[in-house]
Amino acid sequence: METPVSKVGFPDMQWQRASFHQTILERTKRIYDRVAAIYPASTFFFHSRAHRCALEMSGIKDGMRVLEVATGSGEMFRRLVRANKSGQTIGVDLSPNMAARTQRTTRKMFPHAKSHCQAVDARHLPFPDASFDAVVCCFMLELLGEEDIHKTLHEFKRVLKPKGSMTLVLIGQNAAGFNRAYKVATKVAPAFWGRQVEQRVPGWIVNCGLRILGDKTIKQTFYPSRVLAVKK
Ligand SMILES: C[S@@+](CC[C@H](N)C(=O)[O-])C[C@H]1O[C@@H](n2cnc3c(N)ncnc32)[C@H](O)[C@@H]1O
Repeated sequence: METPVSKVGFPDMQWQRASFHQTILERTKRIYDRVAAIYPASTFFFHSRAHRCALEMSGIKDGMRVLEVATGSGEMFRRLVRANKSGQTIGVDLSPNMAARTQRTTRKMFPHAKSHCQAVDARHLPFPDASFDAVVCCFMLELLGEEDIHKTLHEFKRVLKPKGSMTLVLIGQNAAGFNRAYKVATKVAPAFWGRQVEQRVPGWIVNCGLRILGDKTIKQTFYPSRVLAVKK
């Protein structure tokens, strides 16, 4: 029987329970599949400034092999492809509809680019060790349980080449009113909103043996974001 996720409170312990978390991931996939067609609006209003800043901080240069994890509807992915015209840009997303939309729109805008996007779970990346110069991941870690965040950070590190760069964007926790609203959103639709983890992620990055070289907070409309530039 499916856990009635929308009716439960959300202490972190609950995210750790394997069966509960499996249910959440399945729901996440279904919800993002359903909203794929309208998701670009959310990116436009809340994420585009953070995307721009993430690209600036990433150190990505044309000719690199770049991986974006959790492309959503592909707005950041297309920025990456534009900046990496003669390199290779690979995208993945848990939601097949998001991945397909990203693939389709990118092909249309950049028919000659070496880019590809497919449906993949970030926790198990189907790429060899040390195969990317840069990994970018925006607004996804919120949707994973703590154990899965550790697993995913290790996956990012594994697929990065030595001295490769990782750029993460997290939902900021520096605005009290926003945090209160987010707690409510988490209770109503945990599989869509996840929960805020921004203040804990830097420590987990360092525990994973990576170095944080850049750290910026940004606000777009009322929506706070934090961009972390990390090196292997
Ligand atoms: C909040 S959206 C962010 C989309 C995009 N990165 C952006 O900045 O607008 C979260 C995305 O993460 C994807 N996602 C969630 N869990 C994932 C996982 N385990 N592996 C890969 N993608 C995942 C969802 O399908 C969704 O497209």
